Amino acid sequence: MRILITGANGLIGKNIAKTFIATPQVDVFATSLKKLNIEGTTSFTSNLLNADINYMFDEIRPDIVIHCAAISSPDACEVDRFICHRMNVELTRRIVSACVDYRVHMVFLSTDFVFDGLKGNYTELDTPAPVNYYGESKLEAEKLILASSTNSTIVRTSLVYGVESKLSRPNILTRLIDNLSKNKTYKVPADQIRTPTFVADLASAIVHICINKVTGIYNVSGEQKISVADFALQAAKIFGLNHELLLPVNSGELTEAAPRPTNTSLVIDKAKNDLNFKPTPIGLSLEKIKTTLYG
Ligand SMILES: NC(=O)c1ccc[n+]([C@@H]2O[C@H](COP(=O)([O-])OP(=O)(O)OC[C@H]3O[C@@H](n4cnc5c(N)ncnc54)[C@H](OP(=O)(O)O)[C@@H]3O)[C@@H](O)[C@H]2O)c1
Repeated sequence: MRILITGANGLIGKNIAKTFIATPQVDVFATSLKKLNIEGTTSFTSNLLNADINYMFDEIRPDIVIHCAAISSPDACEVDRFICHRMNVELTRRIVSACVDYRVHMVFLSTDFVFDGLKGNYTELDTPAPVNYYGESKLEAEKLILASSTNSTIVRTSLVYGVESKLSRPNILTRLIDNLSKNKTYKVPADQIRTPTFVADLASAIVHICINKVTGIYNVSGEQKISVADFALQAAKIFGLNHELLLPVNSGELTEAAPRPTNTSLVIDKAKNDLNFKPTPIGLSLEKIKTTLYG
């Protein structure tokens, strides 16, 4: 099986690539914007905004493409809607078209931010209603995938955490460690509820989807509903950092360009049933990350 992963320099793409390397009879092709070298994969750089996707498919002949590349910062999307649309929607449209032409299964990384966050506990059957442009762009991409004839899987995930060397974008844990270890305070929203996702669990679920050619929409996240502030507090305590430097605040006190949905907790029963998905409890995953970080 030949797998093409876009956005393989990101936290999620990199973890999917590494998980696949351990899977027999899979050739992994990994692409990113900046320099990339994941051992055991054929890695290459490409600005996908200008790339000829059909040429790429001709060369690689993938069976499955896992499309992770995106402008994934909600604030960056809000500030530059034009580039967000080009990257998150138009690029996805071109990849979908190539998937149709070359009969490739498309796995698309989507987000809990397609929901308005007013009720929480969202299943795959709930109606999306994004509150920011990032969520809008990901929903538009979902719709054009679903409207196409290609076999596809849409994976909606939430507040993904993990540590990796040389990440191009920080995540909640890397920001927390960076600030607290330098004795700086770190403001965290106490009113945003999420189901945080350990990146290794997400990567395993996606490998399962690819090997078993599962199609449809899936929520793939952790199972525990928790505020971002409480998640950060738990991480700081487990990592032995000074948790008094954490400042729980209301979202209104954070000067962020994009509004954030309040409660986007996801229900993962479908993934548990169909994918045998068993997310690691938060405490245990943070302990594993601590071992990776500090030995
Ligand atoms: N992380 C989360 O909590 C979360 C939650 C829900 C959904 N998602 C979705 O999951 C996917 C992956 O997320 P992530 O956190 O791993 O994202 P990320 O760290 O921001 O990585 C995005 C990747 O896209 C690549 N990229 C950006 N512009 C590109 C371009 N013009 N050409 C080629 N590649 C380009 C980046 O390459 P370089 O690194 O080389 O610049 C990077 O590898 C995204 O689609 C995101 O919307 C993430």
